[in-house]
Amino acid sequence: MYTQSFSVPDEGRPAATAIASVEPPDKMARFDACIDADGRIEPQDWMPEAYRKTLVRQISQHAHSEIVGMLPEGNWISRAPSLKRKAILIAKVQDEAGHGLYLYSAAETLGTSRAQMLEALHSGRAKYSSIFNYPTLSWADVGVIGWLVDGAAIMNQVPLCRCSYGPYARAMVRVCKEESFHQRQGYEALLVMMRGTEAQRAMVQDAVNRWWWKCLAMFGPPDSDSPHSAQGMRWGIKRVSNDELRQKFVDATVPQAQVLGVTLPDPELRWNEARGHHDFGAIDWDEFWATVNGHGPCNQERLATRVQAHRNGQWVRDAALAHARKQQQRSMKEAA
Ligand code: 3HC
Repeated sequence: MYTQSFSVPDEGRPAATAIASVEPPDKMARFDACIDADGRIEPQDWMPEAYRKTLVRQISQHAHSEIVGMLPEGNWISRAPSLKRKAILIAKVQDEAGHGLYLYSAAETLGTSRAQMLEALHSGRAKYSSIFNYPTLSWADVGVIGWLVDGAAIMNQVPLCRCSYGPYARAMVRVCKEESFHQRQGYEALLVMMRGTEAQRAMVQDAVNRWWWKCLAMFGPPDSDSPHSAQGMRWGIKRVSNDELRQKFVDATVPQAQVLGVTLPDPELRWNEARGHHDFGAIDWDEFWATVNGHGPCNQERLATRVQAHRNGQWVRDAALAHARKQQQRSMKEAA
């Protein structure tokens, strides 16, 4: 099992790029020196606009993924097979809401308000992870989401604990600890099912068949087609590339699948002694981009549910604001 302790050494940071030329050279030099020394940039520090924009894009997409990610599993809370599984699932879904909150807070330190970020999500302009646009058809999907989706998320997110932007890196420490628990509970739920009936085993295999390729695509496009990777790596935001993480995920997951007793649905999956890694088949990138661009099986449903949830919560936000105003008036009166 991989956990938060999973980490990958940096393979040397690429040199500073032409972006430096559009910013004040002295400030840019200090910023580059901090990045080169593997220092942390904090909200009050000067930073190039492109760095700020990249962080707002990535952190807000990440936050959106956390809160949209509550929906496919949330659908199973009322149908969990036992009180124990229900309690675990409720806790997990609540954790995802918490992750969204830490991440929106981290992004807000860059000067973009939560209302602006949510508006971008609700209007369909902002991206969130492709993986949450697929349906959860059986209880086994809940286990497989824990094992594979959260497993892929941890693989991607542990290196983010060393991101150059302090608030994002610090938020990720707690997120990763909780994701580790999510992954283990998913795997344990599947182990129980695999020791159950033939029908339960078939349900797990069916869920693995449907989620495997989507999880591989979740790491993002191949490095050669990833427009943001080079700059993200240079700035120490991204520490490990999309393809490297995908490979590490495959290598870590194959033995786990063997212990579980499921087959990963890829006839080309095999150990390559020379590379020291598993080879695997081709990912359907057309399907991935169609989903990212709004045409996956559940995009419309997810967005509509999310917008409705936001509307339903309006009275809570109004009440909290009214309470805060009253508190402020009271303390002003007392001070007068
Ligand atoms: N789903 C949707 N869009 C994706 C994607 C995916 N799986 N992978 C990449 N993209 C998008 C990028 O956002 C970018 O779009 P943009 O230019 O409109 O912003 C475009 O595809 C090109 O991709 P790049 O590889 O060039 O982009 P990045 O360098 O930003 O890398 C990333 C993409 C690896 C997802 C990176 O942004 C990242 O590490 N983000 C933080 C982690 C995160 O957001 N994870 C999402 C899952 S969270 C989760 O699963 C919740 C948990 O509870 C399970």
